[in-house]
Amino acid sequence: MKPFVDLRPQFKEIEEEVMDLLARCLQKGQFILGENVEYLEGEFAHYIGVQYGVGVASGTDALHLALLACGIGQGDEVITVANTFIATALAISFVGGRPHFIDIDPETYTMDPEKLREFLEADCGVDPGTGKPVDRKTGRPIKAILPVHLYGFPADMDPILELASRYGLTVIEDACQAHGSEYFTDLGHSNPKRKGRKAGSIGKVGCFSFYPSKNLGAYGDGGMVVTDDEDLFRRLRLLRAYGQADKYTFIMKGLNSRLDEIQAAILRVKLKKLDRWNRLRREKARLYCEALKDSSLMLPRERDYGKHVYHLYVVRHRKRDALQDYLKAKGYSTLIHYPIPIHLQAAYRELGYREGDLPITERCSKEVLSLPLYPGMEDSDVGEICELIRASER
Ligand SMILES: Cc1ncc(COP(=O)(O)O)c(C=O)c1O
Repeated sequence: MKPFVDLRPQFKEIEEEVMDLLARCLQKGQFILGENVEYLEGEFAHYIGVQYGVGVASGTDALHLALLACGIGQGDEVITVANTFIATALAISFVGGRPHFIDIDPETYTMDPEKLREFLEADCGVDPGTGKPVDRKTGRPIKAILPVHLYGFPADMDPILELASRYGLTVIEDACQAHGSEYFTDLGHSNPKRKGRKAGSIGKVGCFSFYPSKNLGAYGDGGMVVTDDEDLFRRLRLLRAYGQADKYTFIMKGLNSRLDEIQAAILRVKLKKLDRWNRLRREKARLYCEALKDSSLMLPRERDYGKHVYHLYVVRHRKRDALQDYLKAKGYSTLIHYPIPIHLQAAYRELGYREGDLPITERCSKEVLSLPLYPGMEDSDVGEICELIRASER
């Protein structure tokens, strides 16, 4: 069976440099935080186009810490989507918040700004004390919007930012699947030319995962929070390390969520390759799209507001399960991102959502299928998968 992702070709490309760095880290004896973490924080922030980066232990922790640092806490509602990895919602729960799920756009699979507008305009009141929106149904204050740049394509951020600004909400981006993806925004620029901004640099704070199979992946867990806000940056640095101001002084209750030196050293090598690897992903996506354009599959669409980096190549098909079984029988692994949306997961039963509450999300969960796509994948495998799919339709 051919794997869904194979990281070995990528390792071959950087093996010498990585082995050398590993030896140097081990000889130096500095394992937690350290100079590679600091360099990576600067280099990654620069790549994303913001001032500050804070290396943390995972993407889940990046979201958790970002929410904490933004002051989201007990009883606060955070608007997000249910078509995402569960960690997006877990992070909201970890700070005592409550996710409110908005349905998605059926072509981009990201938060539908129109549905967001409907929710804010029709279902929310205003707290006379704070002037901030309150969810009429739950009575909870709404504090933030957490859009997810899913599969490598950015959520449509301009209308989201506009609504956030109108309602005084903080925007926290889940860019865990979107390293290097771009959004062409009109807002905040005097230059009338639309300007590309990297996912993660658009809201108040952006969160990244370095899980091994991500577009920028470590050889273990890791993550980063990026921001232009200096106060937020200082809080994040404290919060990721117990709230420790110096050796014996703790000024807030923080977590232990640090990025380690070895992972940071490896990520610095890989960051230099990220654009090239993203180009290879886009090239393979193009091969898929070209070969499957006359098939019955619904293919990923790159709207003109964004640049896709194809963390995942996700197609839609009404007989998804049969297609997955067929490809498996022919020796190709595929995956489903995600078969059970978060609002229907047992872990979130207490929120009271029911089947039918998010029709587009639910329909997509039954139809989406992720085909294999990674930088070192052989083009002949892309060709064979497409040929198999076409053959099944003849
Ligand atoms: C959209 C999204 N959010 C959050 C996470 C959590 O990241 P991690 O697995 O590094 O904790 C992931 C990845 O796994 C993800 O895909």
